[in-house]
Amino acid sequence: MKLNIALLAGDGIGPEVIDQAVKVCDAIAKKYDHDISWKPALTGAAAIDAVGDPYPDETHEICANSDAVLFGAIGHPRFDNDPSAKVRPEQGLLKMRQKLGLFANVRPTFTFPSLIDKSPLKRDRIEGTDLIILRELTGGVYFGERGRKDNGDTAFDTMTYQRFEIERLAKKGFEMALKRSKKLCCVDKANVLESSRLWRETVQRMEKDYPDVQVTYEFIDAVAMRLIQWPKGYDVIITANLFGDILTDEASVISGSMGLMPSSSVGNKVSLYEPIHGSYPQAAGKDIANPLATVLSAAMLFEDLNLTEEAQAIRDVVNKSLAQNIVTEDLSEGQKAYKTSEVGDWLAQNI
Ligand code: IPM
Ligand code: MN
Repeated sequence: MKLNIALLAGDGIGPEVIDQAVKVCDAIAKKYDHDISWKPALTGAAAIDAVGDPYPDETHEICANSDAVLFGAIGHPRFDNDPSAKVRPEQGLLKMRQKLGLFANVRPTFTFPSLIDKSPLKRDRIEGTDLIILRELTGGVYFGERGRKDNGDTAFDTMTYQRFEIERLAKKGFEMALKRSKKLCCVDKANVLESSRLWRETVQRMEKDYPDVQVTYEFIDAVAMRLIQWPKGYDVIITANLFGDILTDEASVISGSMGLMPSSSVGNKVSLYEPIHGSYPQAAGKDIANPLATVLSAAMLFEDLNLTEEAQAIRDVVNKSLAQNIVTEDLSEGQKAYKTSEVGDWLAQNI
C-alpha cells in the first residue's frame, strides 16, 4: 500500500518521539511491503518562529492532502509564562483540529501486563481495564466566545454546544460501544450546566436507535473519582472537550505513564494520530522521553487503515520491550534507563 503521511513533530520532545515512531513505521513498511512517504510540516512554537503562525496554510495543505497525520507535541514554556502572548503554540493544534474537522478524539485506556505493579493503583483494581474515552474535540469551552471586559479585569470563556455536535460524537460512541461491551456512559455536569443538559437530552433521544447499548449518565466530578476507583466499570465514555481533556490525563495513571497513552482524532476525512502527553520541555533534546505513546498512536493509524496485522505487530513489539525492561527513565524505577532513541532502535529491530 502506498501511504502519504504528514509528519508534524512540533515542539519540545515532539521531534524525538516522532523520530522513533518513524523508525518503527519504516520497519513495518519494510516487513509488510508498504511504501510510506513522509511529508514533514511545521507546527507549534517552531512554526511561530519560522513563519509567525502555529498552523500555517502550507501545513494545512500537506495535512489535508495526506492519508493520515502523525503528530508529536505542541507547547513551549516561553509562552506559558507570558499571558500577554498574542500567538500561542497550542492555537496551532486547535486550529488544526478545527480545520481538519477532527470532532472526535479517541483515547483508549488499557493496562500493560508488565506494568501493572508500577501503577500507584492496586493490581486488582486496574488489571483488565479496557475503556475508551471519546472526547468531543472541536467545540465546547475550547472554541466558545471568549474575551475580557471591565478594562481587562473580567475574563470569560463560554461552553457552547450545538445539538449536531453532540449527536455526531454520540453516534460514534454508540457505534463503538456496539462493537465492545455495549456500555456507554455520558459524562457531564447536567446538575449545573445548561450545555450538559443538552448533552443528556440529545443522548437520551438517541438511545432508542441503539436498543442493545446500555446507557448511563454520570457527573464529571463523580467519574473523576470512580474512574480510578473502579475503571473496569467503564467501557465507552463520551464527554465534552474540557472534561475529556482532564479525564484522560487522569486515566493515564491506570496505564502507568502519560508516556504510554496514544490517541486518534477523527472527523470526516483525514485523521490525526498523537500521544496524549504534551511537549515536556524539561526533557526536550535530552533523549530521555518515552516514545511509546507516539509509537502506539502509529499503531492506531494502521488499525484505522484496516492494516490490522501491522497494528498488532507494533503493539506486540511494544509489549515485548516493556516485558524486557527496554524502557525510558519514567518506567525504569532505578534500573537501567534506555534512551528514547535506543528504545526506538530496539523496537524497529524487533518488528
Ligand atoms: C491534549 C492537550 C491539548 C488540549 C493542549 C496542548 C491544547 O492537553 O491534547 O490533551 O488541551 O487539548
Ligand atoms: Mn490534555
